[in-house]
Amino acid sequence: MTTALLRPTGNRELLGLLGRTPLARVTTDLPCPHPGFWAKLEGLGAGGMKARAAVSMLLGARERGELPPGAPVVESTSGTLGIGLAFAGQALGHPVVLVGDTELEPSMRRLLRTYGVRLELVDRPAAEGGWQAARLARLRRLRAELPGAYWPDQYNNPDNVAGYASLAAELAAALDHLDILVCSVGTGGHSAGVIGPLRRHWPHLRLIGVDATGSTIFGQPARTRLMRGLGSSIHPRNVAYDAFDEVHWVGPAESADACRRLATGNFVSGGWSTGAAALVAAWAARVHPGAVVATVFPDGPQRYLHSVYDDDFAAAHGLDLTRAATRPVEIPHPRAAEATGWTRCRTVADPLTPADDGSPDPTGRRPPRAPSATAAPRPDRRTTREETP
Ligand SMILES: Cc1ncc(COP(=O)(O)O)c(C=O)c1O
Repeated sequence: MTTALLRPTGNRELLGLLGRTPLARVTTDLPCPHPGFWAKLEGLGAGGMKARAAVSMLLGARERGELPPGAPVVESTSGTLGIGLAFAGQALGHPVVLVGDTELEPSMRRLLRTYGVRLELVDRPAAEGGWQAARLARLRRLRAELPGAYWPDQYNNPDNVAGYASLAAELAAALDHLDILVCSVGTGGHSAGVIGPLRRHWPHLRLIGVDATGSTIFGQPARTRLMRGLGSSIHPRNVAYDAFDEVHWVGPAESADACRRLATGNFVSGGWSTGAAALVAAWAARVHPGAVVATVFPDGPQRYLHSVYDDDFAAAHGLDLTRAATRPVEIPHPRAAEATGWTRCRTVADPLTPADDGSPDPTGRRPPRAPSATAAPRPDRRTTREETP
């Protein structure tokens, strides 16, 4: 499909709307009672959480001369970055062409097109690499069709990470102290972007990553995933593996249950990544009494009315929300067992760098290994008392 590209003239005043999102106190049971945690409501910012990354990536490319004024921007996205790029494109004067897939909600397709984006959809996942690989293949063809188009490559672009300096600054300004930060992980952008600046404020801050079951990011085998936003079927280079103290994998029923509890008990809620991050943040607040815990809710609930919040969707996908786990299963290493529900692992390593334990790689991709510094335990930090989880 080839349609004329809208060429926004650019309206830099829009940049004044970026960020400055509210911080909510969440105390509703998830599913157990807990002392409460802070949630940064990124869905309430103009262009959503990913507008921070999108503006940063386009400004960086402009500065390096990789994005001439008025040149198109092309990207693969499952939605949230698309909205952010639509915002950044309008602000900086660039037409935006996105590659999504047929799993993209109709409301999101309509919204993106309403914002002036040209949206192309792939209709089947690649045999290896899933939807992301299929979208990237279409993206390569598009770049050939649109000479001079800029591809931000959010999975590997350091400007994605740098865009979250403002999020870190807002958290540091709003909180007197922070012990534990819980971040969902997709491209790795926001977790990598906030942890450095926040550890300069609070050197003992612990970082918990939240991934989706079936995601390859932290070394699990690739499986078909229902949840969007967090998780990946590739190994994004923006993930700051060394920065994480532990990782949790959360399943769709657990996340949906948490989303619904948030909506009915605390009014603020969101999508799959919000539910998963909230579940783990509530657990962290419960098992570390006295700790100040914060997390990021990447978007709001609207996009998920026909999935997360829909009983027919849950039934059609075999999600039993009444059997929500109250604590994670613990595994010693990401390759020790496949995480099929909420699972915790305190060993975090980049699956693409050599491991030190000689354990088999369920992805079958990695050659035999030599010792790795990335798998080394983090230096001791101040910790709070931890119950048996
Ligand atoms: C809704 C949603 N939540 C969470 C994430 C993960 O954030 P990051 O890419 O910064 O790791 C994404 C990324 O696309 C997202 O769209």
